[in-house]
Amino acid sequence: MLMQMRKAKNIGADVVEIRLDCLTNFNPHRDLEILINQSPLPTLVTCRPVWEGGQYEGDETERQYVLRLAMQFGANYVDVELEIAHDFNDSIYGKKPDSFKVIVSSHNFHNTPSNEAIASLVARIQATGADIVKIATTALDVTDCASIFQIMVHSQVPIIGIVMGERGLISRLLSPKFGGYLTYGALEAGAISVPGQPTAKDLLDLYNFRLIRPDTKVYGIIGKPVGHSKSPLLFNAAFKAVGLNAVYLHFLVDDVEKFFNTYSCIDFASGCSCTIPHKEVALKSMDEIDPTAKKIGAINNIVRRPDGTLIAFNTDYIGAISAIEDGLREINGVIPAGASPLSGKLLVVLGAGGAGKSLAYGAAQKGARVVVANRTFERAKELADKVGGLAMTLAEAENFHPEDGMVLANTTSVGMTPHTDATPLAKHALKRYCLVFDAIYTPKDTRLLEEAKESGAIVVHGTEMLIRQGFEQYKNFTGLPAPEQLFRQLMEEHA
Ligand SMILES: NC(=O)c1ccc[n+]([C@@H]2O[C@H](COP(=O)([O-])OP(=O)(O)OC[C@H]3O[C@@H](n4cnc5c(N)ncnc54)[C@H](OP(=O)(O)O)[C@@H]3O)[C@@H](O)[C@H]2O)c1
Repeated sequence: MLMQMRKAKNIGADVVEIRLDCLTNFNPHRDLEILINQSPLPTLVTCRPVWEGGQYEGDETERQYVLRLAMQFGANYVDVELEIAHDFNDSIYGKKPDSFKVIVSSHNFHNTPSNEAIASLVARIQATGADIVKIATTALDVTDCASIFQIMVHSQVPIIGIVMGERGLISRLLSPKFGGYLTYGALEAGAISVPGQPTAKDLLDLYNFRLIRPDTKVYGIIGKPVGHSKSPLLFNAAFKAVGLNAVYLHFLVDDVEKFFNTYSCIDFASGCSCTIPHKEVALKSMDEIDPTAKKIGAINNIVRRPDGTLIAFNTDYIGAISAIEDGLREINGVIPAGASPLSGKLLVVLGAGGAGKSLAYGAAQKGARVVVANRTFERAKELADKVGGLAMTLAEAENFHPEDGMVLANTTSVGMTPHTDATPLAKHALKRYCLVFDAIYTPKDTRLLEEAKESGAIVVHGTEMLIRQGFEQYKNFTGLPAPEQLFRQLMEEHA
C-alpha cells in the first residue's frame, strides 16, 4: 500500500484513500500508524462495510473504533456511512483535530433518484454534522449526471457528487466544473474500485482535470460504445496547446434526443462529435443540417450556436474528398484555383454504407462521374440513383475499365483487421486507376493499397480521411484553424 501511495503521488494525486476493508491480515495498531504516517500524501481512511457495498464483514464497534484510531494517528479524512454517521460524530465530539474532516457518504447502487430525493438526502447527511457530504448514485443513462450536477452546484456545504457506472463517467470528470470537493481516480485501469472510475492518469493527462473550471466549455463524442474513441486525446491536447478553456469527453449515450434536451446550456455539449450508432438518428434532434450532410443522411459533427440551437455537419466526406483531391494534385500538378481535380474524373466507390454515401455525394458535388459498386446491388442502385451515377456489383467492378486515370475509393470493410488478407478488388482490376483510396484505417496499409502501389497508382490512406475530418470538426467547434501538426503527431504516437 505504501508503494501504491508513492505511485499515486508520482501520478499527481492530492490525497490517497486507504481502503481498510480491502486489506487482509490487517492489524489496526500496527498497520494504521505506519500507513498514515508514512504516506507521502494526505490520507482519507475508509472501511466500507458489506451493507454499503464494501468488503468489511466484521464487528461494527471494532470498525468505528478503527476509524477513530485513524483520526488519532493523523488521518486527514475518514469516510463514514450515513446510517452510522450520527453515532460516529457523537463519539468524536470535542476530540476532532482541526485538520481532520468527516466525509459522510450515501451510496445508491441501483439508480439516481429524483432531484428532490437527492436534495433531502443531502439535508439528512448535513444534519449528522458532516464536514463533507458525499452522494454516490448509479447512472442508468448519461442524463442522470445532470441531477447530481444540479445538487452540487447549489450545495452550501462541501460536496462530493458521483454517478457510478460507465454512463456516469462525466460526473467524475466534471467535478471541478460543478464545485465538487474531490473526485476519485484509480491507480491503474484494472484497479478500479467502482465501475466507471477513470484512472488518475487519465483524469490528469487525458482530460486535463486540473484545467477544468466552472466556466469551462464541455465538448465530447456521443456514441455507444464510445470508450475506445481517441478523439478526447486529440481535442484535449489541442485545447491545452492553444489555451482554450474547454474539455472534450466520452459521452456514452443511449438516447440522443434526451441527451440534447437535458444538456442544453451554451457551455455544455457546446460541440459534439457523433459516432455509431447515432450518426443517422441524431439528425432528428438538430435545428439545422448542412445541405450535403442532409443528402448523405448522416452527421458526425454537431455545434451549439450562441443562441443554443444545434447545427450539424458531415465532416467524413470533407476529410475523404480533400485527401483524394490532394492525391490527384500530386499527379496532375497545380490546377486553376477553385476547380476540383475530381471534376470530370471517373470515380468508382466500392461500398454503399455510411462511408460509401459520404464519398459518393462528396465526389458528385465536386463534379466527378460516380460509379457505385456494392455486394448488395440494390443498395448500390439506390445510392447511384441519388448521386446521378451508375450502379454495379463488386464482381462487375472487376471487369470495369472503360478509361485510364480512374479513381477508386474502397468504403467496404473488406481488408480490415483482422481480415487483412482480404481485398475488395483483385489486383488485375487496378491497372487503369491512377489513384486508390481506402477508407479502412486499421491497418493503415491494406492489401488493396499495397497492390495499388505495385500497379503504379498513387495511394491515399484511410488515416488521412480520419485526421482531416478531425481538422474540420475542430474548426467547426472553435472557429479556429486546427493544430494539424499536433493532431498528426498524436495520431502517429497513439495509432
Ligand atoms: N477513415 C475514416 O475516417 C472512416 C470513416 C468511416 C468509416 N471508415 C471505414 O469504412 C468502412 C465502412 O464503414 P461504414 O461505416 O460505411 O460501414 P457500413 O455502413 O456498415 O457499410 C459497410 C459496407 O461494406 C460492405 N461489406 C461489408 N462486408 C463485406 C464483404 N464481406 N464483402 C463485400 N462487401 C462487404 C457492405 O456491403 P452490403 O451493403 O452488401 O452489406 C457495405 O457497403 C469501415 O472499414 C470503416 O472503418 C473509415
